[in-house]
Amino acid sequence: MSPTGFEYRDGVLHAEEVALPLLAAAVGTPAYVYCANTVRARYRRLDQAFAGIPHHIHFAVKANSNLSVLSLLRELGAGVDIVSGGELYRALQAGFHGRDVVFSGVGKTVQEIAQALEAEVQLINVESEAELVAIDAVAARLGVVAPIAIRVNPEVTVDTPHAYIKTGEKGQKFGIPRDDVARLVELTGELSHVQLRGMGMHLGSQIGNADPLRDALPRLLAAIAYAQGKGHPIAFMDVGGGLSVPYESHERDADIDDYATIVRA
Ligand SMILES: Cc1ncc(COP(=O)(O)O)c(C=O)c1O
Repeated sequence: MSPTGFEYRDGVLHAEEVALPLLAAAVGTPAYVYCANTVRARYRRLDQAFAGIPHHIHFAVKANSNLSVLSLLRELGAGVDIVSGGELYRALQAGFHGRDVVFSGVGKTVQEIAQALEAEVQLINVESEAELVAIDAVAARLGVVAPIAIRVNPEVTVDTPHAYIKTGEKGQKFGIPRDDVARLVELTGELSHVQLRGMGMHLGSQIGNADPLRDALPRLLAAIAYAQGKGHPIAFMDVGGGLSVPYESHERDADIDDYATIVRA
């Protein structure tokens, strides 16, 4: 079986054991076809790399919000990383619970923040000071305390195939610049409807080697130590992303063992 699950057999494209012309005849075209066994195998490989460390793998719904794909990942034990109210809706439709959800992304609307709090998501990853204040206000209105994480921009050099999929370099719109993290931690301590439960980061997509992660993790750990020193009950470290997938034959698969070794240390 090919690593993707797709291969030609006697000139006929197959997805796993299924000849695609049969599927086309049954459901028409265009049709999107995914290989569940490939998803299962890749999920298990990532999960096993972290064996022995308490961990939870969150799938970025922006990558594919097909309900069958999401349900399959849920059955495997995954959670989701969402960036909109629409993605929250689809995740819930696929059977995820709020506790399986981390809400990231710049530009969350007040309505989306309220939906996330009503769904009791695990964490809202804060991407700006204005958003922190907005989350506190929405939580106060709903009479709840919002579990939040600060998304730190670790400001490391990231090598990605396209400049627009870097997220963890200095000047990117994502996350809190590292020099501002202390101030946000202080502000969090002054707000009564947010609780700082985690620190996170996301470096970019299609990162083929673990160097940026190696550079960034000490910076994330420093932010965690600072917040803990101020008495915040940090329980989660959100370590993303994004492990590369080979779309073209010259592209490399992510070195998951290297990635896991760094996180483990
Ligand atoms: C918070 C967050 N999660 C996930 C992603 C998706 O990237 P990947 O699946 O490559 O980690 C992004 C991309 O910008 C992101 O910002």
